[in-house]
Amino acid sequence: MALSASQMMEKVVQRVNFTTDDQQILKQQADWGLRVAPEMADAFYAYLGKDTEMSTILNASEGRMHRLRETFVQWFHEMFTGIDDWGEAYAERRWKIGLAHVRIGIYPEHVVPAMAAIVQEVGVKLRAEGCSDDLQTALSKICMIDLAFIEQAYIEVSSAAVLRETGWSAGLFKRLVVTGASAM
Ligand code: HEM
Repeated sequence: MALSASQMMEKVVQRVNFTTDDQQILKQQADWGLRVAPEMADAFYAYLGKDTEMSTILNASEGRMHRLRETFVQWFHEMFTGIDDWGEAYAERRWKIGLAHVRIGIYPEHVVPAMAAIVQEVGVKLRAEGCSDDLQTALSKICMIDLAFIEQAYIEVSSAAVLRETGWSAGLFKRLVVTGASAM
């Protein structure tokens, strides 16, 4: 990627204003996160299953749903633990998750509403259990950081592929994109 994963992390943390207070709140509630993760995974896959396109992707290969459920639970819990205090290892892990989705052909039109569904579901659960608004704020912020990684992966992979195939410079490619967008 043009930026390293940890540089990207630094930028989004700043833009989302993910503070050390948010991080403390998440860490304190890491056990809660682990406890509710399977329930969140069920709700998430029920949501994806209602969409014909996404349901086809989910069921495209043997064992995929099972793997996904496990990786979702781990992903959800990592938002609370921060792996290495939301540092380099966290950023690398999120970058790889982004790449995994690009490889399978899951696009922003799928991922953005899906993340909105997760935030909404988490909100319902937090309210039902009488959890604090602070936890909801911190979780929404980290979900947006993770979303930024998945989204950025599309841009990085697409532009790297074009540059590799054509031998164009990054500057030329950027100019062509800007000109193309102006013509639309
Ligand atoms: C925004 C929400 C999403 C999150 C947090 C998420 C999370 C994850 C994670 C953690 C992985 C494992 C990546 C790895 O191998 O390192 C994964 C893979 C995958 N995700 Fe997502 N995902 C999201 C959206 C979606 C959507 C919208 C679909 C559409 C069907 C989808 C389908 C898949 C599939 C098919 C895999 C690969 C499973 C396999 O064969 O191992 N995900 N996802």
